[in-house]
Amino acid sequence: MEEANWFPVQIPTVWPSSNIFLVEIEGKKICISMFGNQYYAYSDICPHGGVSLSEGGILVKECIIVCPLHSYKFNVKTGRNISDEGYKLKTYPIRVLDNHILETNIL
Ligand code: FES
Repeated sequence: MEEANWFPVQIPTVWPSSNIFLVEIEGKKICISMFGNQYYAYSDICPHGGVSLSEGGILVKECIIVCPLHSYKFNVKTGRNISDEGYKLKTYPIRVLDNHILETNIL
């Protein structure tokens, strides 16, 4: 994986209560959620109707987000459409650089 494609993300001092931290990198809106000690990065855009998952999407249990428009469910770790409508949520590799910085690969 090209090192040049990794972009830094500052970890906020207060993590969002929604567990959906929205960042914009190179014009792409990316959500970051944390489960256990793991971070997961995924597209803010629902692959079905294109709505923003950070605006009303709900993480119902570990790694599962429900889209606010039609309630399709996606695993934010794998992108799998677990409610079986045949879509895939774009996910991105993410790694911890230190206690304050994450890096995600958006390409
Ligand atoms: S727009 Fe997200 S499930 Fe339809």
